[in-house]
Amino acid sequence: MLIKNALIENSQIPQDLRIEDGVFKEIGNLSPEENEDVLDLDGRLFLPPFIESHVHLDTCLTAGDPVWNMSGTLFEGIECWSKRKEKLSREDIRERVKKAVAMYAKNGIQFIRTHVDTTDPELTAMKTLIELREELKDVMEIQIVAFPQEGILSYPNGKQLMIDAIDMGADAVGAIPHFEFTREYSVESLDFALKLAAEKGKLVDVHCDEIDDEASRGLETVAARALELGLYDKVTASHTTAMHSYNNAYVLRLMRLLKMSRINFVANPLVNTHLQGRADIYPKRRGITRVKELLAEGINVSFGHDDIYDPWYPMGNGSLRDVVFVGLHVCQMMGYEEILNSYRLITYNAAKTLHVSDRYGIETGRPASFIVLDEKDYYEALIKDSAVLYSYKNGRKIAENSASQGKLYI
Ligand code: FE2
Repeated sequence: MLIKNALIENSQIPQDLRIEDGVFKEIGNLSPEENEDVLDLDGRLFLPPFIESHVHLDTCLTAGDPVWNMSGTLFEGIECWSKRKEKLSREDIRERVKKAVAMYAKNGIQFIRTHVDTTDPELTAMKTLIELREELKDVMEIQIVAFPQEGILSYPNGKQLMIDAIDMGADAVGAIPHFEFTREYSVESLDFALKLAAEKGKLVDVHCDEIDDEASRGLETVAARALELGLYDKVTASHTTAMHSYNNAYVLRLMRLLKMSRINFVANPLVNTHLQGRADIYPKRRGITRVKELLAEGINVSFGHDDIYDPWYPMGNGSLRDVVFVGLHVCQMMGYEEILNSYRLITYNAAKTLHVSDRYGIETGRPASFIVLDEKDYYEALIKDSAVLYSYKNGRKIAENSASQGKLYI
C-alpha cells in the first residue's frame, strides 16, 4: 500500500509512505508499483497513533449507577465506586470496557494504560481486563496497572491482593500514598510497591499526591526509590496535584531529585481541574501539577483522560482532543509552538511512559501504525476539533471517520 502526500508531524512538505507486511517500508518521494493500493491524503496531517496514558477502564461508563456523586468530589467518588463494586461482574466489565475501547479506537487511540482496582477480594476486574487485553490486542494495546484504590496498607489483605494481581499478569504496580491512613503507611506502601516491581520486573505507575494538601510528599519517596532501585523511567507518577501547592523553595530542591530519578509524569487536566481545589473558598487552586516547569527541565510528561463517565467524572468521550485542549489552557501553554507540538503529550511522551517507544513512531522498519487528521497541522486540527479520518494499526485499518460537514443557511 502506498500513502501519498502525507504531512508527517506538522511538516510542510508532503511525503509518501510505502507499507508492506504491516511495517513502514519506505518514506520519501515514491511512485505506485503495479496493482498497488494508493491512498492520497492530499496534504493532510499524518501522526503516530494517540496514546491514552492514564484511564480507569474498570470504572468507565458507570456514572449514576447505583448512585450519583452529588458533591462531585474525589472522596465521594471513591464511596460511590465502593457501592458499584458490590455488583461488579465479569459480563458487566466486558461490556463496558469493549464500549470504551471502541470509543477510543474511533478517536485514533491505539494504546491504553488502564489502572484496575485491586481492592476487591475476588479481583474480578483484574481477571477480566487481563482476558480483554489479549482479546482486543489487534485493535488496542492495553497495559494494566494493579491499582489499590482503597490503599495497600489501609485495605484488608491489600499487599497480598497486589502480589496476586501482579502474578496474574498485570503489567505495572500502582499505589495511592495520599489515601493511606497515615504518613507512615504512605511511605511503607511506596516501599512495598517499588520493591515488588523491581523483584518482578514490572513497571510502576503511582496515583501520587492527588490531593491539595501541600504536605502530601509521596512524590519524593517515589523518585528516591526509583533512583535507588535503578527503576528510573520504568516509574511514573500520575496526578501529583499536591505539587501545585508545594512551596517554591521545596520544588527547587525536589526538581534535582526528579531529574536524577528520570521518572515520568502523567497529568489529567479534565479530571483534576474539577476534582481539586474543592476545599478552597477563593482563590481556588487549578489543581494540576507543574507541567510547564517539568517539561522545561526535560522531564517527561504526558496527558491522560483518567475517567470516562464514572463516579469521578460524569463526562468524557474517549477523545484525547479535549484533554489536550483544556490542558494547554490550564497549564498556560499557549505559545504557538506549544500548541503546534502539543500532540507529543499524547503521542511520543505517552509512548515513553508506557515503555513502547521501541515499536512506535513514523520511521522505516517500525509498525505501520498511524492516524490521519483532516487538517494540515496539529494547531489547526486541535482548534478546529478535526476528525480522525483514518486509524491504521500494523498496516490494518481499524477506524475511519468522515470529515465533519455541516450546512449553513446565511
Ligand atoms: Fe486515576
